[in-house]
Amino acid sequence: MNMQQNLNNLILKKKIFIKTFGCQMNEYDSNRIFDSVKKIGYQKSEKLEEADCYLLNTCHIRDKAKEKVYSEIGRVKKSFRNKKKPLVIIAGCVAQAENQEMLKREPYIDLVIGPQAYHKINETILDHIEKRKKIEQTDFDAVSKFKYFSKIKNESGKVSSFLTIQEGCDKFCHFCVVPYTRGPEYSRPFNQIIEEANYLSDNGAKEIILLGQNVNAYNYNSKRLSDLILETEKIKDIKRIRYTTSHPKDMTDDLIEVYKVSKKLMPLVHLPVQSGSDRILKLMNRKHKIDRYLKVYDELKKINQSIEFSSDFIIGYPGETEEDFKSTVDLIKKVNFINSYSFIFSPRPGTKAEGLDLIDKKISMKRLEFIQNLLSENQTQMNKKLENRTIDVLVENLTEDKSKAFGRTEYMTSVIFNGKREHIGKIVKVKITNSNRTTLFGELLSNPDQKVA
Ligand code: SAM
Ligand code: SF4
Ligand code: F3S
Repeated sequence: MNMQQNLNNLILKKKIFIKTFGCQMNEYDSNRIFDSVKKIGYQKSEKLEEADCYLLNTCHIRDKAKEKVYSEIGRVKKSFRNKKKPLVIIAGCVAQAENQEMLKREPYIDLVIGPQAYHKINETILDHIEKRKKIEQTDFDAVSKFKYFSKIKNESGKVSSFLTIQEGCDKFCHFCVVPYTRGPEYSRPFNQIIEEANYLSDNGAKEIILLGQNVNAYNYNSKRLSDLILETEKIKDIKRIRYTTSHPKDMTDDLIEVYKVSKKLMPLVHLPVQSGSDRILKLMNRKHKIDRYLKVYDELKKINQSIEFSSDFIIGYPGETEEDFKSTVDLIKKVNFINSYSFIFSPRPGTKAEGLDLIDKKISMKRLEFIQNLLSENQTQMNKKLENRTIDVLVENLTEDKSKAFGRTEYMTSVIFNGKREHIGKIVKVKITNSNRTTLFGELLSNPDQKVA
């Protein structure tokens, strides 16, 4: 028996508990990390107390991200007080930003691994088990990472599956840590992505959400996101395609044109704008103006009136005046955003905006509340308008108590209705009977995939 086999046997049938903070890309990564560690004998555990290995996939985007990680580790320590300590791995964007510091500050942590080094996860774990040493892996090597993962099948098995096509960011908005934690922009090879999409489909996916920190900056040998969408929709069993997160500057003509021809691209465009004021966009280094944003909006609406927009907003960016804020409010009223997110500016270590003078917290809070009420009201009204109407729902799962089914509309809104297990993975017609801000409730109207005249 060679050393590799010996080590593999050491961790055979051990359990890993994975906790994920942050964006969809982290969710995708956590699934892929699990696909990888399965090869060295790990099984997934839903219970922390049972775990031999605890992996925390972290996010650094806002607030006290670092402290949140250490307090999480504190909780893990507590759970294992009278038991053998699990192998503790910190992955994700805090791991990348803090690297060695984490091992120094918290001896309970064994391994630190950044987002562009996940292809080394198996060898790092085995190395640690063999040599009992703490290891930090934070090199940016997206090429090797995706090459490695292209050989490991994506076992997601979810009706709606994420598929990362692009990583990193070269835009350096002054508020954002992502260029530092995910590294430079990298687009995966076109065929590698289509192969993964086919595998996801074989495994039960009906919806594919193409992911990237700047997904519409995708460019592989001149193949763009528009090409990927059209190629992915050739996969027969894929019924819906989405992409996120995009940047207004990269909403190129070919991507806009795709909305004319694509049969499977969903009519919800998530296009973060951050602020409605050109002055603030300039201070943020966003590289686009409101004119450009509204031009994209107009063009897409001209192609299909039922296209809706969702967005991200940063409120209280240093220097934001009442007038700037009013421009954001005006934009929200004009575009009628649905499903949007808004946050108070949070200074991030190492970014250009880190040291800027903050505006009064009470003012930021008041503005945030105002915006959130406005966005909520839009969402509630939009949902209300759907009452008594029949809509297409892609069924994703049963509810937790198994008494109902859960699915989503074309606009990503959650729907709960009287569906059954056999409806999972199908597009069904649901008559909406009731709604609130976040959810639609309804009755199943037809057999799966049957068109209502
Ligand atoms: N690449 C996307 C874009 O350009 O809009 C955004 C990616 S970021 C992961 C998601 C959202 O987090 C951003 O759109 C922004 O609204 C928010 N965000 C990023 N940095 C922030 C900060 N320092 N404070 C508050 N919100 C922040
Ligand atoms: Fe962050 Fe800006 Fe890059 Fe988006 S475009 S990931 S907000 S730096
Ligand atoms: Fe967070 Fe990193 Fe995503 S900072 S939002 S996990 S790219």
